[in-house]
Amino acid sequence: MNQDKGDIKKRILTEATRLGILLNPEALLILVENYDEKSLPTILSKIAEEAKKRNSVVVSREVVTSVIGASIRAEISAGFHTHFLAKDVEDDIEILKSYEAKQVSDDLEARRQYFADRYSKISSMLRSRADMSPYYPLRKACSLPDRSEGKTIVMVYEKRENYIVVEDMDFSTKILIPRDCDKDLREKIGRLLPDSVVGVSFYVSNSKLFCRSIIFPDVPIKKFKTIEEDISVLLTSDIHYGSQKFSEKAFLRMIKWLRDGGVTEKEREISSRIKYMIIAGDLVDGVGIYPQQEKELQVRDVEKQYGGLSNLLSQIPEHIKVIVIPGNHDATLRAIPQPPIFDEYAEKLESNGNVISLSNPCMVSLHGVKFLIYHGTSMEDIATFAKNASYDRPENAMEIMLQLRHLAPVYGSRTPIIAHGRDELVIEEVPDVFHTGHVHVFRNGVYREIKLINSGTWQERTRYQEQLGIMPTPNIAAVLALKNGSVSQIRFD
Ligand SMILES: [Fe+2]
Ligand SMILES: [Fe+2]
Repeated sequence: MNQDKGDIKKRILTEATRLGILLNPEALLILVENYDEKSLPTILSKIAEEAKKRNSVVVSREVVTSVIGASIRAEISAGFHTHFLAKDVEDDIEILKSYEAKQVSDDLEARRQYFADRYSKISSMLRSRADMSPYYPLRKACSLPDRSEGKTIVMVYEKRENYIVVEDMDFSTKILIPRDCDKDLREKIGRLLPDSVVGVSFYVSNSKLFCRSIIFPDVPIKKFKTIEEDISVLLTSDIHYGSQKFSEKAFLRMIKWLRDGGVTEKEREISSRIKYMIIAGDLVDGVGIYPQQEKELQVRDVEKQYGGLSNLLSQIPEHIKVIVIPGNHDATLRAIPQPPIFDEYAEKLESNGNVISLSNPCMVSLHGVKFLIYHGTSMEDIATFAKNASYDRPENAMEIMLQLRHLAPVYGSRTPIIAHGRDELVIEEVPDVFHTGHVHVFRNGVYREIKLINSGTWQERTRYQEQLGIMPTPNIAAVLALKNGSVSQIRFD
């Protein structure tokens, strides 16, 4: 959009007056957001016709969205690839992990088991490392004579500038951070999160434990798995269908691109090779997610939100399999791991035949390439407790999750977690691709050859984000080529 928004408003209002219609403020806003110089006269005449049918001079936002939606849909139907290259390759999808809803009670023993399970899973990862010897349980470490050295495995209870309070399943103590500690240790302390499980290399002085270094469970270094077939996966998230800020036009542009590949030969080839699409949560905006949300909703009924989104997804070429997981705005249980979107709503999406609804998080193998898909709610806690993580650098939080081998280490803060029995949020299997969303900022990176993709959003900046100072980067999708692991960003605004 080259023109100034004030000029655009004036142009729309002049044209509307000429046609004898009045636009209410919301209707005007939608027209400004979706402004296209060429199509404006046609769209406004259709709006005038629709208003006439409804016997109303004042045009509401419903009238505008119905006309804009129809006009973009007509545009979409216009073109189609003559041959989709991805269609020549057979599907190869294996669901490695997806959680079903389970009965939970607020039971202290179940919570104790949950943390014991976390400790046991991560400590066995650490114990398998060569640098964890000589190992001492915490109680034993505390009884060693002065000048002893060793390794122990702890869960962090609290971190302070000069010490950390830690525990294992049997004992609890304070480990001091030497004032003259090196940069590496200071950096690791900065990344340490409450309730995470790590190894500590210690020495004893004056009957006190001092930290020499922190050993993260971390992921092993391995090569990114590539495949023979030249096909790609489109990764996206945070559509927020139903929000007034949902960029329907850009989203429809992406669907159109999936169908006809755009203008250039190169673009057409990229689009034609897309075989899978993954949507990492917040498919709809939901209802009652935060106070006064209804004021920011375009569609105020959850069923209609999923119905509307399903209509859009139904226009994606059938051979593209779409994997969806819930986020904190979707219709399922709020605490993670979240089971898949409730059947009554997921059925609407799945009625398209090419949509597969799974849990948050889940692990899926596509042609042998393992995708860890997680909405990312815990990034808020990680941004609070870790030094180098922030909303605009989600790849740093993703890196910390991999280093600590846990998707949401911090318990009892902003992220609701089902702390009951088994800890399903431990990253037991190392993925090839780690895909998240939630913070509405498109970023990609690599950590130890694992592709990190936070896939942004299709929602323009909300009032809530303005208050938090978050600057979203909407209308971008990531395309990962499985043949060589390259990641491209495709913009649709
Ligand atoms: Fe979101
Ligand atoms: Fe979210």
